[in-house]
Amino acid sequence: MTIKLDKSFATFEDAKNYHPGGVLAIRRPYNFVENEYPIFFESGNGGKVTDIDGNEYIDMLCSYGPIIIGHREKEIDDSVINQIRSKGFNFSLTQPIHNTLAKKINELIPCAEQTIFVKTGSDATSASIRAARAYTGKNKIVRCGYHGWHDWYLAANIGEHDALDGHLLPGLSPAGVPRVLANTAFPFHYNKIDELEEIVSNHSKDLGTIVMEPIRSYNPESGFLARVREIAFDINAVLIFDEITSGWRLNNGGAHLTIGVNPDIAVFSKAMSNGYPMAAIIGTKRVMEAAQNTFISSTYWTERIGPTAALATIRKYRYCNVSEHLCQIGERIQEIWISSASKIGMSIEVGGISALPHFSIVCDDPQAANTLFTQLMLEKGFLATNAFKATYAHRDEHMLNYSKSITEVFSTITKSIIDCDLHSKLKGPVAHSTFRRLT
Ligand SMILES: Cc1ncc(COP(=O)(O)O)c(C=O)c1O
Repeated sequence: MTIKLDKSFATFEDAKNYHPGGVLAIRRPYNFVENEYPIFFESGNGGKVTDIDGNEYIDMLCSYGPIIIGHREKEIDDSVINQIRSKGFNFSLTQPIHNTLAKKINELIPCAEQTIFVKTGSDATSASIRAARAYTGKNKIVRCGYHGWHDWYLAANIGEHDALDGHLLPGLSPAGVPRVLANTAFPFHYNKIDELEEIVSNHSKDLGTIVMEPIRSYNPESGFLARVREIAFDINAVLIFDEITSGWRLNNGGAHLTIGVNPDIAVFSKAMSNGYPMAAIIGTKRVMEAAQNTFISSTYWTERIGPTAALATIRKYRYCNVSEHLCQIGERIQEIWISSASKIGMSIEVGGISALPHFSIVCDDPQAANTLFTQLMLEKGFLATNAFKATYAHRDEHMLNYSKSITEVFSTITKSIIDCDLHSKLKGPVAHSTFRRLT
């Protein structure tokens, strides 16, 4: 399809007058295909999104994970609208729906003995770190994965700008993070138990928290997470599983339930409420009680829209057996990548859990190849990168169309790699793999 983006470009220029960089971080066009990527969306429906110029795409990114059932999902939206119309949603005191949701989560996730509801993933990880520090009285953190934008996380990059590379988003700048936080957060890589052991042996006296995504890009090697659990016990550290992306994908709750290792705290957001702002910190009573010894509070955390959406999402998620659908769709996508690539003779590596698969193109300039992939897929009507987020709204017809498009796009990329002309096929610069200032 021919993509016209006149309104998007004009709105972006206007946005630069009002917002630093026009739009925030990962949503900047240079992270995708500058000059070709839709910058502003107008609407979504099921598994599709439409940009402000009227171009419609099958949505393979799903708002980076929260749209787990589909855009504009009637059952969920109706329950929210009913709440707003019939009762209102934001009062000075908490509302009993918080108990209802906490009980539901406790029914599904046994370590959720106590719960604090917040609004974003970064809220949840930061509040969980505060509670853990309050519990242990120890400052230092060891961490693995991506956990958001707050100081405690970016502190790992102070003085060493590549420490967070290999943890989803490389090159995050710690400008503005107090230098005194240097040496408070130490990263280790997934499945590298020796890295964790070394950090522990160097810092065990002050190390009170191990925070990590229990699964994401790779499956855990045998015994890896059990050993992390053991280390946390040995050094009296709180083990936090960040399930903000992995939660509600493999089953009706946390990935740790499938893996069989229990944390002291787990944090959830994204898929738990189909796009409505909502997040939860859950954990054992023993550790969560420490939240009472510190100040963790925010005006919007007690409102009712997020919990209403979460209850409706969890209900639908369970009776439609959404996790099974997500895993099936994700496996199908992986098969499409593998079989198309092998037919064409293209070299790719496929990874990620079934509901969140990704691939990398093996060539001299993978970032240019990824950029061309996104550009060509846009032209075929897909908002897609090399990472796929499955949603219940992805249906057979989308998969058939996707499969056909992948074969054609992989062929074009392979030919370009052979002809050494990836760059000349691009309609803009190669996408950035890190954040940068716009001016
Ligand atoms: C594992 C994980 N933790 C934390 C976050 C931060 O969540 P938010 O962007 O809602 O602040 C994300 C977001 O992508 C995430 O994937």
